[in-house]
Amino acid sequence: MNFKKKSDDSAKKSEKHYLSGKEIRAIAKENNKVMRRLEKYKRRKAPEEEFLGEMKDPADILEVEDLHSYFFTDQGVVKAVNGVTFSVPQGSTVGIVGESGCGKSVTSMSIMRLLQGPQGQIYSGSIRFKSYDFKRDEKGKPIPIWDDDENGEPVYEEIKDRHGKVKLDKNGKPLTERRQKRDRYGTKLYEMEEKVFDIAKMPTKEMYRLRGRQIAMIFQEPMTSLNPVFTIGNQLDEVTLLHVPGATKEEAKRRSIEMLNLVGIAMPERVYNSYPHELSGGMRQRVMIAMALEGNPRLIIADEPTTALDVTIQAQILDLLRGLKDSINGSILLITHDLGVIAEMADYVVVMYAGRIIEQGTASEIFHHPMHPYTIGLQKSKPTMDSESDSLFNIPGNVPNPIDMPDYCYFRERCSGCKEMCYGEYPKMVQVSPTHWVACHLYGGENPKENADEN
Ligand SMILES: Nc1ncnc2c1ncn2[C@@H]1O[C@H](COP(=O)(O)OP(=O)(O)OP(=O)(O)O)[C@@H](O)[C@H]1O
Ligand code: SF4
Ligand SMILES: [Mg+2]
Repeated sequence: MNFKKKSDDSAKKSEKHYLSGKEIRAIAKENNKVMRRLEKYKRRKAPEEEFLGEMKDPADILEVEDLHSYFFTDQGVVKAVNGVTFSVPQGSTVGIVGESGCGKSVTSMSIMRLLQGPQGQIYSGSIRFKSYDFKRDEKGKPIPIWDDDENGEPVYEEIKDRHGKVKLDKNGKPLTERRQKRDRYGTKLYEMEEKVFDIAKMPTKEMYRLRGRQIAMIFQEPMTSLNPVFTIGNQLDEVTLLHVPGATKEEAKRRSIEMLNLVGIAMPERVYNSYPHELSGGMRQRVMIAMALEGNPRLIIADEPTTALDVTIQAQILDLLRGLKDSINGSILLITHDLGVIAEMADYVVVMYAGRIIEQGTASEIFHHPMHPYTIGLQKSKPTMDSESDSLFNIPGNVPNPIDMPDYCYFRERCSGCKEMCYGEYPKMVQVSPTHWVACHLYGGENPKENADEN
């Protein structure tokens, strides 16, 4: 990783928040080289074998390993995500917490491959996702499941276009095709198979197989995520029409109404015909969730899904997400800086600080036995009803400059537990229980758990 590092001289200048024009040009030149290479890699045509992989643990649906996502700016390379490793077991909710700017959204955008290029790039690492994809024939077409009669003989039916109109041949006779099995919404069924894709290696245009269909994202601000000039119905139908081969408008509408019902919208037909500005914030977030469910995803990434909502609506949306996870047997990656939300929702918690994971474990381990001084600080800064103090606890100091990260513990300047050994290199991840990991020198000894109990 040989990026143009600023010389000692320039480092001194950067302390003065100043880079000369010559230095900026040198950084830009080096950045352009790397960005061009990464963009070319994303645009390449590649056979599927090149981006297929295996899960390390078959119980996982997502495994992120040593992920590095960078922004190439004229001031230098911002290592927004700097070696992140975690997994999401199937059927579970994993929460990512950390203060603003620690790289939570960049992690989720990397998984969706939505980093804004050419500046934002996945630089290295793996993102393995267990998908349930259409099985394809040698020409790459999905293989239909036929709906034959009781004697196993093919049955034929009229072909309809997207708007449900019967297609006719030159002589005005209806065109027919072999009848295919359909699900309860009337959508045609195809043979499916499980495949593990390495998202970090996928060419961009292959991502349509996963994005919106197998992995869906719910964003923080539903107003900006919905298109103001299309009706809710239009936007919901689009997901089905895009992802289900041969789906008609009529089938898509049936599915959209069902999804609006599922997310607790009382008058789905009315909302289906409304524009986003006609709905309240809570309704819009429900619509976003319905849209996420439309593709029948295996993983939902919810980035601050309740931050823009008031507390009562927040509780409703969290209830809804919790219920949905079970009904669709999916998994949720929940990103928030709200520890209360994490405590209510998550099975596992990942704590991030300055682009790295500093602690991860089960929700109970992180809430009842936090070990990293930062996690302990986060817990203390949570307001409680029984607190006798007038002021809230805050963690003093700031996160280091993301362009010039130090090679020692990033939390050192803010840590009250700092020891002599903390002046050494960045602490390694230490396992303190089968599910609990922490990156802090306090727990680096022979028996980390014992150290943990002492601290
Ligand atoms: N387009 C960009 N160009 C340069 N740096 C960026 C860009 N987008 C994000 N970053 C940097 O990446 C880092 C991580 O940002 P990210 O959005 O992931 O934070 P976050 O943890 O989601 O914070 P929040 O809780 O505020 O949403 C930040 O230091 C930010 O400055
Ligand atoms: S490694 Fe040292 S400085 Fe860093 S969090 Fe642990 S105790 Fe604090
Ligand atoms: Mg964010």
